[in-house]
Amino acid sequence: MIFDLDSDRVRHRPGIKWGRQGPDVAAAWVADMDLEMPAPVLAALRERIDSGGLGYDFYDQPIPVLDVFAKRMGEAFGWQVDSSDTVRVHDVIQGLELAITACTKPGEGIIFQTPAYPPFFSSVEGHGRRVVANPLVRHDAGWRLDVDHLDAVAAAPDVTAVIVCQPHNPCGVVLDADDIEALIDVAERRDLVVISDEIHCDLVYPPMRHLPVASASDLAAQRTVTVTAATKSFNMAGLRMAFLHSASARYGPVVQAIPKRLIGGIGILGQVATVAGWTEALDWLDELVTGLDHNRHLLAELLAERLPEVRYRPPDATYLAWLDCRELGLGDDPAAAFLEHGKVYLNSGLDFGPEGAGHVRLNFATSPQMLDEITARMAEALGR
Ligand SMILES: Cc1ncc(COP(=O)(O)O)c(C=O)c1O
Repeated sequence: MIFDLDSDRVRHRPGIKWGRQGPDVAAAWVADMDLEMPAPVLAALRERIDSGGLGYDFYDQPIPVLDVFAKRMGEAFGWQVDSSDTVRVHDVIQGLELAITACTKPGEGIIFQTPAYPPFFSSVEGHGRRVVANPLVRHDAGWRLDVDHLDAVAAAPDVTAVIVCQPHNPCGVVLDADDIEALIDVAERRDLVVISDEIHCDLVYPPMRHLPVASASDLAAQRTVTVTAATKSFNMAGLRMAFLHSASARYGPVVQAIPKRLIGGIGILGQVATVAGWTEALDWLDELVTGLDHNRHLLAELLAERLPEVRYRPPDATYLAWLDCRELGLGDDPAAAFLEHGKVYLNSGLDFGPEGAGHVRLNFATSPQMLDEITARMAEALGR
């Protein structure tokens, strides 16, 4: 039901996804979904607006959104979070940058797995830190963390942090308990802070399960700073609300010492929507993951039929497909050719690091009909 979309409304929806190229270009790029927001979230937002309660909010404890965050992490992922270890921030990338600046020093090296969500590069380099790539290793069933390479690059004395994207954008990898144990072992031996971006935590396909890095062991909790949000789960990235958390004896106080005035007061509507989503829209979330699961497999069928040269493995999480288009002969930037000749807008793999040459990222959080149109236009771009 929630994937039964009014495509005319979708094409004309305000916002960057459809607005950047206009309604005639099929938009399958930025990580916004074409779905409507869940009804309980919309109702909570409308109620708050209608009440006129858009002035300053309470500053004192308890802060409802922090308690809801703790409850959700406990119930969904078995992660015991204390509200007092959590700081509200505006968005995940702000949280990531705050963690970088608070926990590392200019000139130091920060590792992350590549290909990578593009702001990881700019957030690290923008603060005068050095990007240290740890490419994911491709194998028949997908990608995996290269622990030996991680250990080798972490040996450099100026390397002090590793950013993890759990689940991973753009490859959809979900780290399991063994991966996290190996990661934390390297972090412990090489004395790295682990900054874990878990914004896609709610979008994992069974039988895989999301395991918050900080929840994996006591050692993991001591090593980790987590940034996450409900904004991807409920399609409300424009509401800007996220969480920065650490229960570590070493990094927790560092996170708490970040001046709240520097972060700024957090918008009330993002908090209202987050509370409503994680308390009242969990059935919607189940329906969402079921529908996305269907789409990730439908995409495999459509590509096999229309663009069989494209290498695609359905991701274990997220609604983002990482497509290896190198056999299509479209050069390093197939997204440019798809846009020019097929009027379909995908993310260029080049933005995700050197491994992205010849790749595109496709957002399949849309109706099956639109997915059909997206892949048909990709085929059209090749004159098929
Ligand atoms: C891994 C990852 N981190 C962060 C973000 C952005 O989050 P925010 O808009 O809260 O900064 C995204 C958005 O797609 C993402 O995929």
